[in-house]
Amino acid sequence: MCGIVAGVTQRNIVPMLLDGLKRLEYRGYDSCGVAVLQQGAPRRVRTLARVRALETDVTAEALDGSTGVAHTRWATHGVPAIDNAHPIFSRDEIAVVHNGIIENYEELRESLREQGYVFNSQTDTEVIAHLIHSHYCGDLLAAVHNTTRVLRGAYAIAVICRDEPRRVIGARQGSPLVVGLGDDSAFLASDTFALANCARRFIYLEDGDIADIVHGEVRIIDPDGHEVARDIRAVAKHEDDAELGAYRHYMQKEIFEQPLAVARTAGHVHSLDTEPFGNAAPEMLTGIERVLMLGCGTSHYAALTARGWFERLAGVTAHAEISSEFRYRDHVKERGTLVVPISQSGETADTLAALRYAQSMGEALTLTICNVAASAMVRQSRWAFITQAGPEIGVASTKAFTTQLAALFLLALTIGRRRGRISDDEAVVYLRQLAGLPDALRSVLAREPQIMAWAEELHGKENALFLGRGLHFPIALEGALKLKEISYIHAEGYPAGELKHGPLALVTDAMPVMVTAPNDVLLDKLKSNVQEVCARGGQLYVIADADTQFTSSPGMRVIQMPAYYGPLSPVLHVIAFQLLAYHVACLRGTDVDKPRNLAKSVTVE
Ligand code: G6P
Repeated sequence: MCGIVAGVTQRNIVPMLLDGLKRLEYRGYDSCGVAVLQQGAPRRVRTLARVRALETDVTAEALDGSTGVAHTRWATHGVPAIDNAHPIFSRDEIAVVHNGIIENYEELRESLREQGYVFNSQTDTEVIAHLIHSHYCGDLLAAVHNTTRVLRGAYAIAVICRDEPRRVIGARQGSPLVVGLGDDSAFLASDTFALANCARRFIYLEDGDIADIVHGEVRIIDPDGHEVARDIRAVAKHEDDAELGAYRHYMQKEIFEQPLAVARTAGHVHSLDTEPFGNAAPEMLTGIERVLMLGCGTSHYAALTARGWFERLAGVTAHAEISSEFRYRDHVKERGTLVVPISQSGETADTLAALRYAQSMGEALTLTICNVAASAMVRQSRWAFITQAGPEIGVASTKAFTTQLAALFLLALTIGRRRGRISDDEAVVYLRQLAGLPDALRSVLAREPQIMAWAEELHGKENALFLGRGLHFPIALEGALKLKEISYIHAEGYPAGELKHGPLALVTDAMPVMVTAPNDVLLDKLKSNVQEVCARGGQLYVIADADTQFTSSPGMRVIQMPAYYGPLSPVLHVIAFQLLAYHVACLRGTDVDKPRNLAKSVTVE
């Protein structure tokens, strides 16, 4: 979603703000802007182009000041337009950047209009700026505090004021905001990653907190106006994971990082003596009868894939719930339920709310599987398993997905052993397969040239069907999601057995049908489904295990995968679909890492 960087330094803050915006650009990119206090007034530069263009404009405008706020926007209220880009001003005295949604902005806007405020944007943010202005009597902290009392909804804000040139105030409710501490400076950001070059120590603000930064000093105030102590955490410098290196896009880089990411996530579990869930395991896993997984987007598909593992390896009931649906349903509590939120970012608003809802319904056993150790979900949850994918920049998730799968497989295996569902000998075989996964993934990545040849044939299409069965049905869903997200080709994933209940009507010689075909117990059923497509002239593209006997023939192209890889087979097949979506998108010339209308981390409902 949107990104915030702000701060007070001893020198010109503009280069730091721009560096932070570049790091945050993957989160939101409809527009961006920066404002500093310069010569007794806030001055701003905004653009509908990327941060690189903003940098040029900022230089041309000679923006220079030691106190500033900056923002990348993903539009919610108001179209992407310069007037709606942040920072938003009130009467050239107050400048605000804001992430989130103010739900009562319409009524607030009316009352502010009656007080004579003129609105220059369609944003909900402008009510925050004018409210702060209307409350301002020489103390920005008091004005922000009084403003937050009337705001409803989710927000993270950073505010500067003409009359207090060495001060920036931050506040959060629902949306993430951190304070970064430098040597002689202090910053605010929506993500520690934004401050990788200027801070090593961070304070994670809690809901309702207000941060008051004056020069390099920071005070945290709670909703009652009392100063509170918050832990300061050291965060190691982000590795160069975030550099593009020789790759053309982050998505491509992240696809190729998967062997390493999976090895980092699960590679330490060599033998039955290693307990992947640490000291928490006995309390967490004893008596588990049911696993309730919560997630959105690709993380939901990880849950759908793992559902089969929990049933097969652990013999427990498993539910994969879409967070935005689950949070508004009537949850029926059952004994022995482990709630497992799954999230790359750990900040997705719906999954966080679904976790809180489950907790409010009495679910105490919560284990978040997440790629960001300091995220809201990890902090909210009783236990956490941190995947080791490293920063994922491409909006379309790839390495986060496969590392989530590795973590979920370990969880299913661990519960299965505790319940006596699988023997030690069987567990050793599964662990060996997990350990061999990075090499197996490399061998799929080596098929990239064949997949590129398919992409040449497919990039002119406007529709595609993806079929799979059993453990591979979620891989068909994920293959379709990847293609539609980044190439804008309409794609649908279906369980192959459902073909004749509707989608078969779409099959003509103009319809490409992608199939994920492992050599599992459903292979013969899948082959029958494939024949149904052949008989209607559909163009088949089959990702088939080497031992399935699928061979290329008129109307059917086949890429031979390695031999069947057991229950971990979905992890291999998804790589082929990721590469396919990537190369189709490249040929269509889309913005692969920042697809239109989408955001990396969806921190609004
Ligand atoms: C967005 C991203 C997806 C991601 C989903 C869930 O839609 O574009 O790539 O799968 O959010 O995000 P999370 O961080 O909770 O996994």
